[in-house]
Amino acid sequence: MKFPCRLDKFLSHVADLPRSRVKINIKKRLVQVNGETVTKFDTQVTQEDEVLLDGERLTYLGLRYFMLNKPQGYVCANHDELHDTVFDLLDEPNLKDFHVAGRLDIDTTGLVLITNDGNWSHHITSPKKQKFKTYLVETRDELYEDDVEKLRVGVELHGEKVPTLPAKAEILDKFSLRLSICEGKYHQVKRMLAAIGNQVVELHRESIDNIHLDESLHSGEYRQLTESEINIINAK
Ligand code: URA
Repeated sequence: MKFPCRLDKFLSHVADLPRSRVKINIKKRLVQVNGETVTKFDTQVTQEDEVLLDGERLTYLGLRYFMLNKPQGYVCANHDELHDTVFDLLDEPNLKDFHVAGRLDIDTTGLVLITNDGNWSHHITSPKKQKFKTYLVETRDELYEDDVEKLRVGVELHGEKVPTLPAKAEILDKFSLRLSICEGKYHQVKRMLAAIGNQVVELHRESIDNIHLDESLHSGEYRQLTESEINIINAK
C-alpha cells in the first residue's frame, strides 16, 4: 500500500472490509482521524495518522515476510475449493494481499516464502534473476553419476523447446540427491527426473538463494524472516 492514501482504501485494506461497508461506517460517523470525525471518503491519510474505526485504532502493518515449513497436503494458493492452503497455517492479521514467492506442489514439503512485498518476490521468481532453489530429492530408482551429469548440463523437458539451464546436483546416496535449479518451470524437478528415466518419490525444498529453511521449524510451523534474510534478496 502506498501513502498518502484515501481513507476508504486504507480502511478497506487494514480493517479487511469491502469498500461498501467502509462507506457505511464513514457515513455513520464512526471514523476518526487524529481525533476528528471524518466524513469524506477521499480524505488522505498517512501511516503517522491515528485512524479509529468505532473507537478502535487501525494500524497498517507494512511489508511482512514469513518462512514456512510446508507440510504435504497444502496448496500454495490464496484460496482453494478442495484443499487447505498454506495461508491456513498462518495465524496473522490481514493476509489479504499476501502471496507465495515461488510455489511448491501439494506433495512437496519445505521452504515456502510468503510476503506482501511484490517487488521482493519478483526478485525470487523472475527467470531473469536466476535465483537458485535447492531441493532434496528422493527417487524411485537408483541414481547414477552419468544421469546426474545430464541434470547438471541441462535436459529436455517434455513439451518444452529449450533445455533446462545448468543445475547443481550432488548424489547423496543411492536414491537421493541434492539438486539446485535457477528456474521455476511447472513441476520442474519432477520433470527433470522423468527426463533421465527416473521418478521423484519425495521432494523437499531446503533453500531459496541463501535463505535456508530454519531447522527448528517443525512441519507446518512458520516465523518472520530476519532483516538479514530479507536483505539477502534485496541486496542483489
Ligand atoms: N519442482 C517440482 O516438480 N515440484 C515442486 O514443488 C517444486 C519444484
